[in-house]
Amino acid sequence: MKIELRNMRYVYPTGDEALKGIDLLIEGIEPVAIIGQNGAGKTTLVKHFNGILRPTSGEVLINGENIQNCSTAQWSKEVGYIFQNPDDQLFLESVRKEFEFGPLQIGMSKEEIEERMKWVATLVGLSDKLDIHPFDLTSTEKKFCSIGAIIMMNPNAMIFDEPTCGQDVDGNLRLRKIINELKERGKLCITISHDMKFVVDNFKRVIVMWKGKVLLDEKAENVFSQVETLKKSFVSPPPITKVAQGAGLRKTVFTTEAFIKVFEEQRMV
Ligand SMILES: Nc1ncnc2c1ncn2[C@@H]1O[C@H](COP(=O)(O)OP(=O)(O)O)[C@@H](O)[C@H]1O
Ligand SMILES: [Mg+2]
Repeated sequence: MKIELRNMRYVYPTGDEALKGIDLLIEGIEPVAIIGQNGAGKTTLVKHFNGILRPTSGEVLINGENIQNCSTAQWSKEVGYIFQNPDDQLFLESVRKEFEFGPLQIGMSKEEIEERMKWVATLVGLSDKLDIHPFDLTSTEKKFCSIGAIIMMNPNAMIFDEPTCGQDVDGNLRLRKIINELKERGKLCITISHDMKFVVDNFKRVIVMWKGKVLLDEKAENVFSQVETLKKSFVSPPPITKVAQGAGLRKTVFTTEAFIKVFEEQRMV
């Protein structure tokens, strides 16, 4: 999987310049996190990865092909986008119908749909809710329903737009499982999140957006060590990392174990 953006700009019809010259390369299947303050341009950016939005100028290339060459419906087979708000995505009368809809549109066989349904329903925790109306699901279940509906289509890359929003610990663990299992199956997951603990627990590469630009695009350790730059983007490192920075630890740590190890090492010197 390869997503490439070259000097890409996007201006909304209202005149808002949401993206101001983005150069980006995402290649392979290593999960990538995108973080940044509200309004930074994260959603606008990822909506370009499957053609929901088209660049005002510059280029978006998916596996080397210009996004302009195909329709959004065609790109959706390759890259699935899961909306931040499930209500923007769910519109059928049962979870099962939501899961079948996309696959039927792209001509997946009934057998394959049945087969995938079992796996996906278990993965997203809705095996016993297939005949429930999405309106009757809890907000967490709705989110997992919209995630399942996209995984059902078997795209090679998936974009999660703030899946951690409103999730409890169990929800985050399930998301972690989903991301890991998709990676094992060779799929790329790109995730927007405000939950920095979730980010450092699950992603090696972190992209920080700020005012329509990519501010940082590095390994998580490098990103969260740049405290001053992060302040600019109103991103705060995970709690344990901040405590370590406050205590003067010279390495960026994400776990209590790492904190203790580095603390002991520094004390020895
Ligand atoms: N539909 C829209 N019409 C006009 N401006 C928009 C629209 N959606 C987003 N914007 C503007 O584009 C900028 C980036 O928004 P968005 O991509 O939603 O940021 P994020 O996902 O990081 O919160 C913001 O200034 C926002 O006000
Ligand atoms: Mg957004």
